[in-house]
Amino acid sequence: MSAALPAARPGSDDAPKAAAGAGATGSAAGQHGVGAPPVIEVDGLRTRFGAQLIHDGVQFRIRRGELVALIGGSGSGKTVLLRELIGLQRPTAGSVRLLGTDVWSADEAALRALRRRFGMMFQDGALFSSLDVAANVATPLREHTDLPAPMVDALVGLRISLAGLPPDAARKLPSVLSGGMRKRAAIARALALEPELLFLDEPTSGLDPVTARSLDGLLRFLCDDLGITVLVVTHDLDTVAGIADRVIALGGGRVLADGTLDAVRAVDDPWIRDWFAGAPLRKG
Ligand SMILES: Nc1ncnc2c1ncn2[C@@H]1O[C@H](COP(=O)(O)OP(=O)(O)OP(=O)(O)O)[C@@H](O)[C@H]1O
Ligand SMILES: [Mg+2]
Repeated sequence: MSAALPAARPGSDDAPKAAAGAGATGSAAGQHGVGAPPVIEVDGLRTRFGAQLIHDGVQFRIRRGELVALIGGSGSGKTVLLRELIGLQRPTAGSVRLLGTDVWSADEAALRALRRRFGMMFQDGALFSSLDVAANVATPLREHTDLPAPMVDALVGLRISLAGLPPDAARKLPSVLSGGMRKRAAIARALALEPELLFLDEPTSGLDPVTARSLDGLLRFLCDDLGITVLVVTHDLDTVAGIADRVIALGGGRVLADGTLDAVRAVDDPWIRDWFAGAPLRKG
């Protein structure tokens, strides 16, 4: 564990330029992760709940350094897939490898080591309502490290700042935060252990466009400047068009399309056509 993550607040006045401009320009599609090893490997994933087949052979790879948007209709199984990726819900069949570890056959020690290396922001934030922001962000540090309290406090302050929250947010309960601040607090907690992989479930849902684009800038910054591989589930066309290196579309239990924004939007599928209707074209 190190305190290497920087303290600047993307989206705020002291944000690095790379973060501030990221949402506007996006990235060179397809450049990120080229030649890098896969850090997320999903093969033949099937998920059945009773008679309902949610995933029927989902398969994809994500390379280190990529920022990938996972899209799909409501109920297509995006959240379930994330839960299966991080070891919270066992798929009916298939395999998931994160950072080379097979999530569903690894022993507890390997899983515990793996859990230190990824962060997750849940769809509803899933903050502990009785704990203030600082205590929420400290939870993974307390669970996974034996750092002394002053060090934990210092790291918590860094993560809160990194997520773009003002210092006084630390002592606030989730219930008094705005929607955008709550999302940032959840991201700060996901960043607590300085993860290599970051999973986010609809980080911009319910936010005004300015706040949403600022969060997009934060994700691009985390990927570009800190080298974190990001998989973001989103319904937000602007997030996909603005920051994603690659898009994976789920539908009918499978990967409908997987590629750059332009490649995916060109796929001849009714859901993809409807979803992309009105999406801005990527420049350059
Ligand atoms: N534990 C469970 N038991 C039974 N059914 C479940 C369970 N978890 C999820 N489902 C069902 O699986 C389907 C996919 O759910 P999921 O939450 O992954 O959808 P989603 O793609 O994330 O949708 P949204 O975009 O609305 O968040 C839904 O029909 C849901 O009701
Ligand atoms: Mg969901």
